Amino acid sequence: MLSGRHLTTTLPLSHNQPCTDLKGHVRRRAFPLREVHVAQLMDGKFVAARVRGEVAKHAERLTNSGTRPTLAVLLVGEHEPSKIYVRHKQRAAAKAGIASQLHTLPSTASQAEIIAKVQSLNADPGVHGILVQLPLPAGIHADPVIQAVKPEKDVDGFHSVNMGKIATARPELTPCTPKGVMRLLREYEVPLRGAHAVVVGRSRVVGRPMSALLLAADATVSTCHRHTEDTPSFTRRADILVVAAGSPELVRGDWVKEGVVVVDVGISRMPDGRLRGDVAFEEVEPKARLITPVPGGVGPMTIAMLLENTCILAERHAKAS
Ligand code: GUN
Repeated sequence: MLSGRHLTTTLPLSHNQPCTDLKGHVRRRAFPLREVHVAQLMDGKFVAARVRGEVAKHAERLTNSGTRPTLAVLLVGEHEPSKIYVRHKQRAAAKAGIASQLHTLPSTASQAEIIAKVQSLNADPGVHGILVQLPLPAGIHADPVIQAVKPEKDVDGFHSVNMGKIATARPELTPCTPKGVMRLLREYEVPLRGAHAVVVGRSRVVGRPMSALLLAADATVSTCHRHTEDTPSFTRRADILVVAAGSPELVRGDWVKEGVVVVDVGISRMPDGRLRGDVAFEEVEPKARLITPVPGGVGPMTIAMLLENTCILAERHAKAS
């Protein structure tokens, strides 16, 4: 647990006085306020490093007993952000002692060719986890490709069998980003039972499984999406707000109540080159009890959970064979 110092009360700070976060890092307020409310940052980099350490030990144990955890990544087309994400995933896998394979297909690959590739990975006993990087090129339907991945190798947890288990509160293999969010909430001891959790976004990758996991943890969950009438009227009542809308700085200061816990899943590069989340951080942070930064919040957790899922699948494979 990451308890300890909570900078969540109104602190008497003099002009530009530094304060520290839970790791003792100095955070400096650069504006002349005498009384400042400082939210505690939920530090995904820090928690993810700890998870990666645990995963590396798990991977070593598996390797020593004859099963080297192996992740196969299928990248179709030339989507530049996907190429970068995949590179990060592979680098993190190597550092944790997990083998990774990169399989690429051109953007002209047909649906049938992509599914055939997935099926050949399904049949390869040396592959424990299969990740089809999304989005797929225009014209390719993602769902049949996702359903082609054997549920036992579905490292993303996107197959209907794995999604169904989450929906019925029996999660077996949980999608990486929502799993990472749940881990962060746990590490920062955020109470979930009876809390009002609002999820903005209903994607397969984040929003839907996120809502299901929070519900399974006994939160009262509202899921907002593009057809929701008056989304701020929901977010203002949130004790926990998870935003995965893909819309930079969508959530403004007047969309949240005092003391809210905010998890920002969004990450967008602005025209000036800055990275921004789906939450207007400078406006929301003064009202929040806990908030994730962008970058350095959810992103590192997603990769750590991918590594954890790969080891879980490799262990199941070893036990079954
Ligand atoms: N694209 C963006 N996030 C993800 C993810 O978590 N898994 C896959 N497969 N593709 C993604």
